[in-house]
Amino acid sequence: MSFLSNIFGKKEPKLPFDFSVFKTDMHSHLIPGIDDGSESLENSLEMIKEFASLGYTKLVTTPHIMSDYFKNSPETILPGLDKVKQALTENNINITLEAAAEYYLDEFFIQKIKEKNILSFGNNYVLFELPFMSEPPQLAETTFELQMAGFKPILAHPERYGYWHNNLEKLQEQKDKGVLLQINLLSVIGHYGPEVQKAAEKLIENNLFDLVGSDCHRIQHLEALKNATIKESILRKIEARAINATI
Ligand SMILES: [Fe+2]
Repeated sequence: MSFLSNIFGKKEPKLPFDFSVFKTDMHSHLIPGIDDGSESLENSLEMIKEFASLGYTKLVTTPHIMSDYFKNSPETILPGLDKVKQALTENNINITLEAAAEYYLDEFFIQKIKEKNILSFGNNYVLFELPFMSEPPQLAETTFELQMAGFKPILAHPERYGYWHNNLEKLQEQKDKGVLLQINLLSVIGHYGPEVQKAAEKLIENNLFDLVGSDCHRIQHLEALKNATIKESILRKIEARAINATI
């Protein structure tokens, strides 16, 4: 069908997300005032209410932990989580909220892994991200250390690393080593530009992804996702993967 449509120059239909298929979102920035995400408790509640109304039942929020920029730790994240959870109860917002972190791959991260001072979620999953400029030389060492410590690494938004856009083998290599790949829904709708959108579609078409997440930092991100439509073939692949996800 899509083959014939292509021949006759017909455009593939575009559809909105059905967020209730996802149930759990495992990448967001919803703890107020500790990273570049939510700025206030009010912001957090507004976003979480929107997640619930879209059909999500569980959120694992993942504040940045990044060298000198976001010096977070369990000591800043967990009390923040308690505050938000208390406000959810007070405001009758019915959704499960947990917290882990999005670790930036730097020397502090390796140190924390060695100390086993890591916030994981679910079945020992650890979300981490890479620099956007170039592949870090300590990538293999870090994922190895994570796995040796009993964690299951999840690489955040592989489609956003431009240095891999023409090198899918690198991502296949990560998968072969047991690193899970998490694509941002915001990439799929073109929020970071056409290059990243194209990369996200390529990974999805090639089944080079394990999870999708929102990476929501502010209410505008949720509004953009709610109002977006995406190619039907891409949507179906995302939905199939989300249904089979065990997180
Ligand atoms: Fe993030």
